[in-house]
Amino acid sequence: MATREQWGSRTGFLLAAIGSAIGLGNIWRYPYIAYENGGGAFLIPYFIALLTAGIPILIMEYALGHRYQGGTPYVFKKLSKKWEWLGWWQIVVAFFIVTYYVVIIGWALSFTYFSFGTQWGQNTEAFFFNQYLGDTGAFWEAGGLQWKVLLPVLLIWAVILFVMQKGVRKGIERASKILMPVLILMMVAITIRGVTLPGAVEGLNVLLTPDFSSLVDPNVWIAAYGQVFFSLSIGFGIMITYSSYLPEKSDLANSGMIAALANSGFEFLAALGVFGALGFLAVSQGSSVNEVVNAGVALAFVIFPQIINQFPGPNSLYGVLFFGSLLFAGFTSAVSILEPAIAGVKEKFDLSRRQAVNWVCGLAFLVSLMYTTRGGIRYLDTVDHFINQYGVALAGLVEVIMIAWAVRKLGMIQEHINAVSDIRIGNWWRFCLAVVTPVMVTLMTVFNLMGEWA
Ligand code: PHE
Repeated sequence: MATREQWGSRTGFLLAAIGSAIGLGNIWRYPYIAYENGGGAFLIPYFIALLTAGIPILIMEYALGHRYQGGTPYVFKKLSKKWEWLGWWQIVVAFFIVTYYVVIIGWALSFTYFSFGTQWGQNTEAFFFNQYLGDTGAFWEAGGLQWKVLLPVLLIWAVILFVMQKGVRKGIERASKILMPVLILMMVAITIRGVTLPGAVEGLNVLLTPDFSSLVDPNVWIAAYGQVFFSLSIGFGIMITYSSYLPEKSDLANSGMIAALANSGFEFLAALGVFGALGFLAVSQGSSVNEVVNAGVALAFVIFPQIINQFPGPNSLYGVLFFGSLLFAGFTSAVSILEPAIAGVKEKFDLSRRQAVNWVCGLAFLVSLMYTTRGGIRYLDTVDHFINQYGVALAGLVEVIMIAWAVRKLGMIQEHINAVSDIRIGNWWRFCLAVVTPVMVTLMTVFNLMGEWA
């Protein structure tokens, strides 16, 4: 086997890992989830999920990749021949995520351009759904490619292909080193402007006022775990693959803490910026924040254009900052979601990187065409729902149970981490992974399914 690619520096690895974690989820998912699940009180389940599941799993994944130097199927096979399939399963889940994730990044590219002169006009909802996506409202009228969406998506795929061909150090690492610092500056600017807008206080009140009664609601805990898994990109083999490119002498525990805290810090910043802006919109329209707040796609592509329309001062600039930050945050996550499949296929079929990249990106591109049809957003919603409901936490749960109980390798992994890291991890780490996380995530999966079928 040829020598394995490696990151150029620790900073390079950290920026790529943080680039994977910070994605669309941080900007539009976290603020809404926090608002819906107890506001300020949501911080409690969120931190518990982060400390007992998020950070421990993240460090475990770093250690697996670093120790076994391979893609996920290879690593799991090394643990036990019986478990290679889990690696492929995670790759399949990640593959489906990336096919629509890239399409949303394409929308962000279009909207960065539309920001100049607020080309979406006054009826931003009709603009996004009807004019831009070509969704006519009736499912049976859907179909046919929507060129306005396809073109930016093609462009994004071309850049992704270019970066992935260049490889780990010259591609992913270099892109992260450029995009991440710019993204963080953009988000700081958005947040400062967001919280200083007239009416911002209203939004911040709604976001931060704690509703402690939410703490007895199991759905709030489900939301906290779900957010932490999705946001940290764990359970998809992404971090295992990224850390397989670490040199032998690499700190693991400390890097995991840094990446997790950077990701959460960014989430909080984004939430303040977004809710400050929502407060501004509500006040300027004479409505309440609860009326303008919205989830996911609509928040970014319908509500934000309205905010930008009303924005006092240079609104094109504010629009470019907002949609540009979605674009950059999404891009570094998209490349990370592709890497497990590329590494997996490359190792399994003994391909060159170029061949593996062409196959994986080519196939993902073909699937993503489905979402660039008129009304393709409906497919997107459906796939996203299933992935979140059945894919995200389940893949992480099975991974933890396999390692803690089926192949019983936690002790070995703990020793490996402590042999290379600045900070030692204690038995609390094993307890979280072997007991706390499986119990919590199993309960949460059961509740989730009950809610789904009720
Ligand atoms: N963690 C990133 C986000 O918050 C993206 C991501 C999601 C990456 C799922 C991998 C898997 O958007």
